Amino acid sequence: MSKIAVIGSISTDFVVTTAKRPEIGETITGIDFTTTYGGKGANQAIACARLGSEVQMIGAVGDDTFGEELIENLAQNRIDTQNVKRVTHLPSGSAHITLLNNDNAIIYIPGANDAVTVEGIDALENTLTACDLVLIQNETPQAVVEKVILTCAEKGIKLLYNPAPARVISPEWLEKVTYLTPNESEFQLMFPKWAVSEGVKQYPNKLFVTLGSKGVLYHDGTAERLVPSYKVQPVDTTGAGDTFNGAFAAAIAAGLPIEESVKFGNLAASLSIQKFGAQGGMPTLAEMKGSPNYEEKWDIE
Ligand code: RIB
Ligand code: NA
Repeated sequence: MSKIAVIGSISTDFVVTTAKRPEIGETITGIDFTTTYGGKGANQAIACARLGSEVQMIGAVGDDTFGEELIENLAQNRIDTQNVKRVTHLPSGSAHITLLNNDNAIIYIPGANDAVTVEGIDALENTLTACDLVLIQNETPQAVVEKVILTCAEKGIKLLYNPAPARVISPEWLEKVTYLTPNESEFQLMFPKWAVSEGVKQYPNKLFVTLGSKGVLYHDGTAERLVPSYKVQPVDTTGAGDTFNGAFAAAIAAGLPIEESVKFGNLAASLSIQKFGAQGGMPTLAEMKGSPNYEEKWDIE
């Protein structure tokens, strides 16, 4: 079983489904309201764990009922939560999501997710070194992201950095990352001078640009590769990127070649968007195997 550590956000998602968005000063009647589990870090951790990886979550929640439930949800998904701190000075992180025509707009409030520190990462160096792969995103303070990049590079640990939500980071940091997975708009913010095609050519087998329903673009050192997504009718695309990242990480950590790992990630994402909620629909290995698009050579058990 491969070992993965995920450093990142753990949040409650407050999801409003509506047919339109109110203008400033306007009140409208929406369709539905649901509270679900989310946070890009927790979502990616759960995507890995459902696919059989042994997962350590590193993060922080508040000393409130949300925090308690967030930890419980991770534990129920077989995730080791001993390095999830509970802090008293900040509320648990939350995301306020508007779901409109199966697409979303999100306001993220970090809260306790900002309580993960550089010193905290220092103290967990041995935990990280024991892993096959480490995953991190941008719902965590920039200094922590940089510390994790540095530690992984120094210790020779594979690092998948999903730069979501978008944030500018200087290119020297990116040299040290093993895999970088922005979506198209995150890519544009990070590399304003380049078209996606040029970008992937500069970082062969490292930069994977997720293009939503079009698939994933990367360069294998010889040629550009577009790995198409699996066509499905989406119910809720929230967490599609997280499912891709978690599944891609689980496949890479288990030793699958890059292109197969991308396909594996795409299939997991296509299954996840057919159910409501970021974590709803994230497949188990058995559910992956049940898909007509599953390929025998992907056996990562
Ligand atoms: O990527 C989706 C996640 O990002 C949601 O679960 C929400 O927490 C947001 O911040
Ligand atoms: Na879903």
